[in-house]
Amino acid sequence: MERSRVAVVTGGSRGIGRGIALGLAGAGFDVVVNYNRSSQAAEEVAAKVRELGRKALAIQADVSVRADRERFVDAVLEQFGHIDVLVNNAGVAPEVRADILEATEESFDRVIAINLRGPYFLTQRVAKHMIEYVQKHPDAQPKIINIGSNSAYTSSTSRGDYCISKAGIGMMTKLYADRLAEYGILVYEIRPGIIATDMTAVVKEKYDRLFAEGITPIRRWGTPEDVAKAVVALAEGALPYSTGEVINVDGGFHLHRL
Ligand SMILES: NC(=O)c1ccc[n+]([C@@H]2O[C@H](COP(=O)([O-])OP(=O)(O)OC[C@H]3O[C@@H](n4cnc5c(N)ncnc54)[C@H](OP(=O)(O)O)[C@@H]3O)[C@@H](O)[C@H]2O)c1
Repeated sequence: MERSRVAVVTGGSRGIGRGIALGLAGAGFDVVVNYNRSSQAAEEVAAKVRELGRKALAIQADVSVRADRERFVDAVLEQFGHIDVLVNNAGVAPEVRADILEATEESFDRVIAINLRGPYFLTQRVAKHMIEYVQKHPDAQPKIINIGSNSAYTSSTSRGDYCISKAGIGMMTKLYADRLAEYGILVYEIRPGIIATDMTAVVKEKYDRLFAEGITPIRRWGTPEDVAKAVVALAEGALPYSTGEVINVDGGFHLHRL
C-alpha cells in the first residue's frame, strides 16, 4: 500500500495556518491541525480536510511549552506513524504595540517563546524523527517550512520583539537547512507580507490606506491562500535543488523602489 503523506501545521486553526492546512489537504496530504486555544475552529478545519478526502486530526499544544511539544509529536507519530512536512506557522503579535523605548521584557519573552523558541525546538524534535524516517524509507523527502515575515528585515518600532523573533526564524531556516541537507531533508522559509487575518484586523484601516497609496507593487491585501499556494509548491517538491531558500509572498513588498 502506498504510504500516505502527512503534514503538520502549527497554528492551523485560523488565518494563514488554516489556509495552509486546507491547501495541503487539497494537494493530497493528511493534515495534523495544531492549535492552542481555538479548539472549535481547529475541529472545523479538520472537518474540512476530511471533506477533501484526507485524514485529519486537531491536536492542542502550546508550541512555547516543552511538555506540550513532546506530547504533540508523540501523538502525531502514534496516529500517523511519520511526518513528511512540518509547517512552523503558529505565531503571535505582541499583546500591546508599545514603542521600543517602553516595551516590556514580559512581552519580549512571550513573543520570543512562541514565535522562535517554540518552532526552534519543535523542529529539533521533528528533525530527529525525519532522520530516522528517511533511513527507513529512502524515498521519503521530508520538508520543513517556516513561516517568517517581512518583519525579519523591516523595522516596526512598535513591535520590536516581533521583528526580532522573525529575524531569528531567518537564521533558524539557514541552520536547519545546513544541518539536515545530508539526510535529504529540505528546509525553506516563506516570508508573507501583509496578509488579511485576525492578526492584521486591528490595523485594517491603516493598511487599506497604505495599499491604496501603493505600499506594495501588487496593490492588494495578501490572503492565506496566497501563502498556502507557496507552501504546497514547496511541500510537493517544486524546488528539489534548493534549501534554506526564502520565498517572499508579499505582493513585491521586499523590492527596493525609486
Ligand atoms: N497576517 C500577516 O500579515 C502575517 C505576515 C507575516 C507573517 N505572519 C505570520 O504568519 C503566522 C500566522 O499568522 P496569522 O496572521 O494567521 O495569525 P492569526 O490569524 O492570529 O492566527 C495565529 C494562529 O497561531 C496559533 N497560535 C498562537 N499561539 C500559539 C501557541 N502558543 N501554540 C500553538 N498555536 C498558537 C493560533 O491558534 P489558537 O487560535 O488556537 O490559539 C492561530 O491558529 C504567524 O507566524 C505570523 O507571525 C503573518
